[in-house]
Amino acid sequence: MELFVVLTSFLALAIGTLAIGQPASLTFSETAGVLKLGGTGSSPTIVIDAKDWAGVTRTANDLANDFGLVTGTKGKVSSSTSGLGDVPVVIAGTVGNSPLIDSLISAGKFDVSAIKGKWESFMSQLVSNPIDGITSALVLAGSDKRGTIYALYDISEQIGVSPWYWWADVPPKKKTAIYALNSTKTQGPPSVKYRGIFINDEQPALTNWVSSNYGGKYDSRFHAKVFELLLRLRANYFWPAMWNSKFYVDDSKDGPLAGEMGIVMGTSHTEPMARADKEKVKPWDWKSNQSNLKKYMQEGATRAKNWETLWTMGMRGDGDTGSPTLDATQLVDVMNYQQSVLKSTIGTVDPSKAPQMWCVYKEVGGYYQKGMKVPEEITILWSDDNSGNVQRLPIAVETSRVGNSGVYYHFDYVGDPRNYKWINTIQLSKTWQQMHLAHQKNATQIWIVNVGDLKPLEIPISHFLDMAYDMSKFMTADSTDPWLKAWATREFGSEVATGTVEAMATYGKLIVRRKYELLNLTPFLYSTTNYDEAANVLGEWESLQNKTQTLYDALDADTQVAFFEMVLHPIMAGRIVQQVYINAARNKAYAAQKRMSANKLADDVKAAYAQDAVIQKRYHSLLNGKWNHMMDQIHFGYNNWQDPASNSMPSVSTIGTTAPSGGILGISVQGSTASTPGDAAPALLALDPYTPENRSIELYARGSGTVDYTITPSAPYITVTPSTGTLSYPSGTSDIRALISVDWSSAPNGSSTASISIKPKTGGTETKLSLPLNNVHVPGDYKGYVESNGAVAIETSHYTSLVSGGSSSRVEVIPNYGRTDSGITFMPVTAGTQTVSSAPKAMYSFYAFSSVSSAKVSVYMPPSFNVDPGNPFKYAIALDDATPTTVAPVPSSTLGAMPSDWKDSVQNGARISTTTLGKVEPGAHKLTVSLLEPGTTIHRILVDLGGVKSSYLGPPESSKVGM
Ligand SMILES: *[C@@H]1O[C@H](CO)[C@@H](O)[C@H](O)[C@H]1NC(C)=O
Ligand SMILES: *[C@@H]1O[C@H](CO)[C@@H](O)[C@H](O)[C@H]1NC(C)=O
Ligand SMILES: *[C@@H]1O[C@H](CO)[C@@H](O)[C@H](O)[C@H]1NC(C)=O
Ligand SMILES: *[C@@H]1O[C@H](CO)[C@@H](O)[C@H](O)[C@H]1NC(C)=O
Repeated sequence: MELFVVLTSFLALAIGTLAIGQPASLTFSETAGVLKLGGTGSSPTIVIDAKDWAGVTRTANDLANDFGLVTGTKGKVSSSTSGLGDVPVVIAGTVGNSPLIDSLISAGKFDVSAIKGKWESFMSQLVSNPIDGITSALVLAGSDKRGTIYALYDISEQIGVSPWYWWADVPPKKKTAIYALNSTKTQGPPSVKYRGIFINDEQPALTNWVSSNYGGKYDSRFHAKVFELLLRLRANYFWPAMWNSKFYVDDSKDGPLAGEMGIVMGTSHTEPMARADKEKVKPWDWKSNQSNLKKYMQEGATRAKNWETLWTMGMRGDGDTGSPTLDATQLVDVMNYQQSVLKSTIGTVDPSKAPQMWCVYKEVGGYYQKGMKVPEEITILWSDDNSGNVQRLPIAVETSRVGNSGVYYHFDYVGDPRNYKWINTIQLSKTWQQMHLAHQKNATQIWIVNVGDLKPLEIPISHFLDMAYDMSKFMTADSTDPWLKAWATREFGSEVATGTVEAMATYGKLIVRRKYELLNLTPFLYSTTNYDEAANVLGEWESLQNKTQTLYDALDADTQVAFFEMVLHPIMAGRIVQQVYINAARNKAYAAQKRMSANKLADDVKAAYAQDAVIQKRYHSLLNGKWNHMMDQIHFGYNNWQDPASNSMPSVSTIGTTAPSGGILGISVQGSTASTPGDAAPALLALDPYTPENRSIELYARGSGTVDYTITPSAPYITVTPSTGTLSYPSGTSDIRALISVDWSSAPNGSSTASISIKPKTGGTETKLSLPLNNVHVPGDYKGYVESNGAVAIETSHYTSLVSGGSSSRVEVIPNYGRTDSGITFMPVTAGTQTVSSAPKAMYSFYAFSSVSSAKVSVYMPPSFNVDPGNPFKYAIALDDATPTTVAPVPSSTLGAMPSDWKDSVQNGARISTTTLGKVEPGAHKLTVSLLEPGTTIHRILVDLGGVKSSYLGPPESSKVGM
């Protein structure tokens, strides 16, 4: 499978300089018309008018420093254009705020009409003789303060300083020469107006780290680092830590610093009027303590009026819970009061001067649903379900609101079904699917994401903010991997970029199956009996880790640190947790079979559990302990939503070494828990030429001692490998998996039953396992999936054909999406609701050998919400020419409540909807899936012709022929 379908918009960048997704204005080799900006022994002077914003000068100093990081020669910052001699010159400034830039404009040397008056936009261009005595300069002009700041950091990124150079230790890329191209570059305005992060649930990891680095408080030194990161990532908005912090109180320099640097300060959804939760007056009750609450809100406005603030409006109850006394009418009173405060304090509620938001989170959604009138100027911030599924997006009547709307999203959460705060558990393609939909439905005023401790979420944060900055690079369903490739190229270099895409795309699929904290739910998710599921999943993790280790090994020592933090660590640490739980489940299953390797699995679980601490220590020891505490989060042994007090290993069983009366040699087969002799000999599962999984026999020691065995098939066309061997315990080989293969050209046609006998060489009884064979064949010209053992498992990206629908609607594949492979979705999402006949369709051919009077089909989807309740997600499915069955899979729910299947589908990373398909006769069939509503997305389809066995992910994908 081509994971890395070649990209459109991102590829270009990988060649020249690297500013992800944005055009290049620099180059590293001399070509006609370029201006040398720096190199070994030389660097530019960056001229900033003294009247420009302080934050612009501050950024220019960062850029001057960044030249030093890549060339060894630091640049200089000057407020004067005189006396520069013949050093390279960069002139940067804000239109209307920099007399220097304004003079170039009025002299006709720089035309900024493309950006003038726009939000956060900039232009860059080479200008000849900008000022007397300067032959040529690179001129950067911002439409506003952040426009200029982004222009300067854009140069940093292009010369080779990653936004993550400090927070994730990405080494600056050394350069011997840097040139500015003689081209004009225009960038902005961003797709989403306010784009930011929320540092939240920051205990224990980040808080412990802050304690040891900043003396216990989230102070202005800490915030300067965060703000710089945000600006380098082209973000502009921040909700500060609130678990036990008070941004404005803890350090009085915090607010002015945000103002100077150019960060728009917000507070979380539950902290109105720029005040921290920990400052709340008690009782926090509008009804009984209104005058004090009003005073408190007024003080917040007065305190924060001197810098850019995005005001959080409304209120919830104390401690981020519902208020028992508040109702929808009073909530509107609260908002009206808050707006009156803004009017009297800053003179306006016009959102271009006083942006405001109200977050539809939990119970307040119910008020809104009942028709609450939210003042027009207030941006409605729609929330996800805390698990990455956006609950609601603007519908037609809401898109014309002055304040528009936005999305509050989560990459980290404390709450139901269980906290996920440890390491990165985000599938990027899923974030794309949700945020692309939000963007297309015009929820574009604010995007804010809860990033927990910030640190282990570098990749999802970059992805989210890059989409928010320029969604035009993410308009197709396959845009995630090209973005990841451009990102990996910037951070680690092009040699490992493709491998990093493969690693993170695979990681996304493995992790979306279930969060680490939920792996100990009972019964264990992965089947230890059917489809070798548990062992195969562990194999996927192992193979992912091995490949990622190979990438790591190829990197230089400096880059290895960054790669470890962002890519290798989550894969290693995640694999260990999987190994602990999967092998604990296998241990129990083996112990029940008296399989001595249960004891080895018990040891393996203990060793893996101990390894978890070793990996944590490795992370904490990086760079002499720079990130000590960042991995303090408990991640084993949850039994409710909240963290347990400490990690704990799942229990394991050990068994005694006395063999059962049936003898040392034990035999088991797929699909059965029996251990024979002792239990009745199970039949092997049927085998046919299209069976996608290996068919095997497990032979193992059931006590201490040694046993030689021979395996003899009943017919010459059956081979079993190995056919003889020795099992012994405690030393030697205690378990053998013997693989069965059949030469179908010699086997009898149609159904037959062979057998395989297994005999200990000396003593003991012979075991005979029957082996049903189905020597069946599809016609030579058939193309499509083929049934085996009563199941057809389809990965939706492997369609036979696609048909476009009305309004240019079509089916697009979302690569590396969902739990097993990829997904399909309805694009463009602006095409609107379709009928079964006008809908875009995907067709899947399958060939059945079974005859079934009532087959069932299960459709696997993400756990999404109906973001437009009046037009729920829908698909229709039909077998051959039958009338399609239309399914609206998401149970309806009111805003603020969850659909009835929410917990299961969120825990499982999938919602499975099963419908009856009708009668299926042997022969070729066609399954047609119509996507009726934008946003409808499907991962996988399973046709049950009577043979599907229970498992978590479903049977492995069926064999395909001719495709
Ligand atoms: C840049 O290109 C323009 C025309 O494309 C030309 O007039 C100008 O002289 C060039 N500037 C430099 C510094 O080469
Ligand atoms: C209202 O809040 C203030 C400040 O916390 C408190 O001192 C006062 O007792 C409260 N008033 C009432 C009526 O509860
Ligand atoms: C979104 O905004 C664009 C531009 O203002 C407009 O053309 C489009 O109709 C809006 N879409 C929706 C779904 O309201
Ligand atoms: C991973 O590497 C280890 C150590 O080299 C090896 O034993 C194991 O078989 C590999 N596993 C997979 C699935 O590639």
